[in-house]
Amino acid sequence: MKVDVVSLFPAYLDPLNLSLLGKAQTQGLVQVQVHDLRNWATDPHRSVDDTPYGGGPGMVMSPLVWGSALDHIREGAQTKPTLIIPTPSGEPFSQVLAAEFSRAEHLVFACGRYEGIDSRVGVHYSSSEQWEKVREISIGDYVLAGGEVATLVIIEAITRLIPGVLGNPQSVVDDSFSRPDSFIEGPVYTKPLGWRGLEVPEVLRSGNHGAIEQWRQDQAQARTRKYRPDLLTEIPPEQV
Ligand code: ADE
Repeated sequence: MKVDVVSLFPAYLDPLNLSLLGKAQTQGLVQVQVHDLRNWATDPHRSVDDTPYGGGPGMVMSPLVWGSALDHIREGAQTKPTLIIPTPSGEPFSQVLAAEFSRAEHLVFACGRYEGIDSRVGVHYSSSEQWEKVREISIGDYVLAGGEVATLVIIEAITRLIPGVLGNPQSVVDDSFSRPDSFIEGPVYTKPLGWRGLEVPEVLRSGNHGAIEQWRQDQAQARTRKYRPDLLTEIPPEQV
């Protein structure tokens, strides 16, 4: 998979070279390139934004600069990329979307700052034959200072699903949210058996795989009921 990220703060994306993703890049499973948006600014001040039409606070990022940057990336690509624009007003990110994006050949992330990117950028590339599609994505109901951290989150969730990136492929299967009917995962333990007066639950030491699986399911269900009741889709009584 090829990943391009365009940002005013390329150093924000440095963690992409660490850990699992750093290794995936070394192995050639993922190629990440980070670009400085300011390279495509043309005026003497190298500005990338302007005041919003209709008034209001803050600045809006210029479609002229974004258009030049994204066209440049497209010109250097062999296949049609998918453009991802992280924004708090986008479609909610999810494990299902991560799985969908993990099958893409080429993703381009446009990291906005200030009040966001001129809306015509998304509209233009959505209808362009040269691009696969455009997705505006929110990682949660809170507002970050820019799209960089959201991009890190989205890339990490996507790339760990690419075959070969994780050491143990079963980890992906067991993840919270990986099945449509899934619960969030329950508690996990390692050695030592006792720590600060807290013991590892007896059942996990029993060697009874059926009982362990049942206990894990019960724990996951209880945790889901407590923290994420919205994930529990009740079957209407008339269908029981
Ligand atoms: N940019 C600012 N806030 C964001 C959010 N919640 N999700 C995605 N991108 C953002």
